[in-house]
Amino acid sequence: MPDSMIPSASAETRRSEPAYLSGFGNEFASEAVPGALPVGQNAPQRPPLGLYAEGVSGTAFTAPRSENRRAWLYRIRPSADHPPFEQIDRGLVRTGPFEEADPTPNRLRWDPPPMPGGPQDFVEGLVTIAGSGSPAEGAGLAAHLYLANRSMTDRAFFDADGELLFVPQEGRLRLVTEMGVLVLEPLEIAVIPRGIRFRVEVPDGQARGYVCENYGALLRLPELGPIGSNGLANPRDFLTPAAAFEDVDRPTQLVQKFQGRLWAATLDHSPLDVVAWHGDYAPYKYDLRRFNTINSVSFDHPDPSIFTVLTSPSDTPGVANADFVIFPPRWQVAEHTFRPPWFHRNVMNELMGLIAGAYDAKAEGFAPGGLSLHNCMAAHGPDLETWRRASSAELKPHKIEDTMAFMFEARRPYLPTRHALETQALQAGYDDAWRGFPKLFPRP
Ligand SMILES: [Fe+2]
Repeated sequence: MPDSMIPSASAETRRSEPAYLSGFGNEFASEAVPGALPVGQNAPQRPPLGLYAEGVSGTAFTAPRSENRRAWLYRIRPSADHPPFEQIDRGLVRTGPFEEADPTPNRLRWDPPPMPGGPQDFVEGLVTIAGSGSPAEGAGLAAHLYLANRSMTDRAFFDADGELLFVPQEGRLRLVTEMGVLVLEPLEIAVIPRGIRFRVEVPDGQARGYVCENYGALLRLPELGPIGSNGLANPRDFLTPAAAFEDVDRPTQLVQKFQGRLWAATLDHSPLDVVAWHGDYAPYKYDLRRFNTINSVSFDHPDPSIFTVLTSPSDTPGVANADFVIFPPRWQVAEHTFRPPWFHRNVMNELMGLIAGAYDAKAEGFAPGGLSLHNCMAAHGPDLETWRRASSAELKPHKIEDTMAFMFEARRPYLPTRHALETQALQAGYDDAWRGFPKLFPRP
């Protein structure tokens, strides 16, 4: 490890500004105190500095090397030192199998949820909209919204059901994890692996955004095929936190999500006490503005898979359990082409959100912070206004600017939660977006 990665912090202090290690899925090594990492082995009889060694596996021990993810943590107290967990109120968090409401083939769209009236932290403000599969099955995902207006204090969380992909829409997040600190702003994303403990702080006083909880295979970069060895999200732009820890002997509530329920135990110390770690199972963040967007320079436009940032594969080659796809600012230059997304019916299931600006297939009604759901074979595409405008637009080069929409695309149909179907934010009359198309045939 280069010397520059070793901070000069004492055991009593933790780094105030986060430091990051670059690369996707690398074999990282980081220590917040020099000498905290054992050399040449993982589990010495007495680890350095009086720390406890702990292994964390994110894949089966025997997963192939290309799939295998694990980390070694060197911490002030072993994680095993905790009393029994007791079940607590799960609020509006739901988990697969999603069976509380009937599946619907209808196209659905939600307005952005309002900020809460009273104080709530990230865990209290997590609301599940829809999902599929289940954690026990190891396949599927859930789409959540979060609304937080206070930081978690003396409270930490981990998700035993899946990894969490954060997509902030408003307000920064400071994710204080076992392995270090990630500061995240809208247009950046972060992934916290299954089981890794963290606290969410809201430095701007309030925060709103989306979370994809992935029950399936770990998210990774997509294959590039004929694109070649560069492009889309480049590996070096992914940032993993350098080790940082807190040495706090104060009662701390540790909440975990396990098989859809929330459970809590009170520790007599902070569990974010990892002084050094190494491995390839760690949180990371990525700035969506660094996405190398690739598109048509002739006519038509490629399938939106060309905009895939991260993918969770399924057991079937080429069929993702979940894809995280973005619609970033980009030039449109295609000739004699209807440039917005076409009308389409797909086998995959599309849940979309909007981080900023407007989405190029919808002139109205899809606001930042909102959501739309188009399940398997639901007919959708440009709304009437977008179709009208794009059908007669002058086809000079045009840059779509100040926008960032995204999609959690899934193999299995999304099943909305009861809350999602009953909330005032569910738009009535979304189907009207596609009403009134004129009959043009036969064109004279
Ligand atoms: Fe679509």
